[in-house]
Amino acid sequence: MTPAVTGDNARVTHPALRPRLPSPLQEVADDRFARRGLRLLLKRDDVIHPELVGNKWRKLVPNLRAANGRPIVTFGGAYSHHLRATAAAGRILGVPTIGVVRGQELARRPLNPSLARCAADGMRLHFVERAVYRRKTEPETLAALLRAADAQEAYVVPEGGSNALAVRGCRGLGEELRGRADVVAVACGTGGTLAGLAAGLGPGQRALGVPVLRGGFLAAEVGALQQRAFGGPRGHWWLDERFHFGGYARTTPALHAFADDFEQRHGLPVERLYVAKLLYALTVLADEGAFARGSTVAAVVTGRPFPEAAARDDVTSPPGTPPPPRSRGGAAGS
Ligand SMILES: Cc1ncc(COP(=O)(O)O)c(C=O)c1O
Repeated sequence: MTPAVTGDNARVTHPALRPRLPSPLQEVADDRFARRGLRLLLKRDDVIHPELVGNKWRKLVPNLRAANGRPIVTFGGAYSHHLRATAAAGRILGVPTIGVVRGQELARRPLNPSLARCAADGMRLHFVERAVYRRKTEPETLAALLRAADAQEAYVVPEGGSNALAVRGCRGLGEELRGRADVVAVACGTGGTLAGLAAGLGPGQRALGVPVLRGGFLAAEVGALQQRAFGGPRGHWWLDERFHFGGYARTTPALHAFADDFEQRHGLPVERLYVAKLLYALTVLADEGAFARGSTVAAVVTGRPFPEAAARDDVTSPPGTPPPPRSRGGAAGS
């Protein structure tokens, strides 16, 4: 099949994949920042492309090019933005896609709206036991998974899309922000976006990552991703691990209330699993005086709410889940 994507990331020949780059940088007036002498900017990566939203476009396009028309197999959970973006890219380019989905039990249930969208875009879904899914990066497990999914010839994109090509693709995000902010903050899943962002920023700029997963493993992951993408550490970045709200895909009523309020103040639809946690973290950090007076803080809006997400009831933390602590700490990184 003829590759539909050529040249560097900004030169996409398939009209339906053309991005809006650089993404807009929008200043918002927010008294929680203004009273600390801070400017808040929103880096609107959510408007890069209608279907490959935000970091998905930056990560997937170099991989689509490398796949060169081969089928694409990738991995994700039941509500994975990355699976949806890959399925959409496959539909647009006419490339078969296979999604390996965490949770064998899901195979027996009706597809949730996110997986239904993947299937409607032509993605073949292959459900696996969680214990096996956890070991998917081990070569033998991966080989067995690809055999079972009938995807041995496919181009493999890792979970979250974060391989070296993707990280290099995200460097463009940092480059677009050179000289525009003192601190650029992004929500982290695999850490690939942060790894690339930090590498693209200019001297004196710092990148802050806000992990949405629990576990304290991300600093090592970001370092490893930078090693693979660039051959060593790049840029100045750190993590604040306090704002996961119970872990991946967990939310609390307080987080939703914060996001609702942010939407009303600024007219920005706030994606709840990543972007809301990032914006919440920044307001707490501003309140704590973590950023020097006179600084400009840019928040990367990496996603958009998926319409049906509001109807979900399986990812809200049970009542009584404690809000994140308000003390400083938890920083790591290079
Ligand atoms: C909306 C959104 N923001 C942020 C991220 C985190 O990106 P990364 O996995 O590169 O850390 C993701 C990951 O899938 C995402 O979907």
